[in-house]
Amino acid sequence: MNFTFQLPTKIFFGLECVAKNSAEFAQWGTRALIVTGRSSARASGALPDIQQALAQHGITWTVYDEIEENPSLAAVETGGAAARDHRADMIIGIGGGSPLDAAKAIAVLAVNEMRARQLFGGNFPAPPLPIIAVPLTAGTGSEVTQYSILTDTERRTKRSFANRCVFPKAAFLDARYTQSLSRSVTINTGIDALSHAVEGYLSRRGSFMSDQLALDAIRQFGKAIEALGKDVLTIEERERLLYVSLLGGMVIAQTGTTMVHSLGYSLTYFRNIPHGRANGLLLTEALRFNQAAVPEKIAAILAALGMKTLDELKTALSQLLGAEKPCTPDEIETFANIAIQATNIANTPRIPDVADLKMVLADSLPSS
Ligand SMILES: [Fe+2]
Repeated sequence: MNFTFQLPTKIFFGLECVAKNSAEFAQWGTRALIVTGRSSARASGALPDIQQALAQHGITWTVYDEIEENPSLAAVETGGAAARDHRADMIIGIGGGSPLDAAKAIAVLAVNEMRARQLFGGNFPAPPLPIIAVPLTAGTGSEVTQYSILTDTERRTKRSFANRCVFPKAAFLDARYTQSLSRSVTINTGIDALSHAVEGYLSRRGSFMSDQLALDAIRQFGKAIEALGKDVLTIEERERLLYVSLLGGMVIAQTGTTMVHSLGYSLTYFRNIPHGRANGLLLTEALRFNQAAVPEKIAAILAALGMKTLDELKTALSQLLGAEKPCTPDEIETFANIAIQATNIANTPRIPDVADLKMVLADSLPSS
């Protein structure tokens, strides 16, 4: 047994964890920029909780709520300027993956004279402002990763940068904040979390340690799959999904993702398919493609889910996701050629070529 495992984020998990641990905020600064989307921070109840915690400790704040889904380079540059204008010394990200990833980019841009595009190099001279993350979806796991995924219109895809300096210092996970999510957002983000665990388990960069977390996440997802399709989930079911998401993030922080995310980025960029849904549509066929290379791992994934075959998994995911329009031949050509350039392709156990990616795409979004 021989592994490296890095997780510098302090995790607070449980109902009312913000109020119960409000002193943590005072560890990191006195002037916060809160980075979030237009409405979810308020609707979830997270924003008032955090404002109360900050006020208790004499921390001032400004809210930057311009983060849209799949944040652009322009949005994080504006956020960096907002942090400088406010003379922020800490960044608090509240939201799904988009605000959390944007918070990381903004924490870097606040203290470095650089354009957002230069973030993709992954290096910057000044250490970013400390980041605190409060997830509002059970999916991204971004609260415990060193990744920030942004939309690059020049390269026509989503692209990430990674740097250990952008691991959040603290993460607050309270399942109450996910209670107002719609059925489709719950499903899409939940399947993103499953995808992180499954891809991390398959990844060439996986280890004994990350495998344990991944398998537990997959097992817990298997227990939650029935709840995922419901319109109203209990708080216990929400907590289980949030736990799966947390484990998935801890796993991919070590292992990266694989061809599923590489291809999924094209479905999101060009077809506007939500990120988790894109992964869910592709997951089973990607597993089928890798089965010859790692049959024992595919068997372990199915066993952890309580399933016998990949077709059973495909049916379960299809029931949750519903049908999707097939790709045109032109789309398949474009998507596969962009995905092949993604760095996470190299983590896939059976490395695909362009023809393989085209086949997985065509089989994942069939025409009938
Ligand atoms: Fe993801």
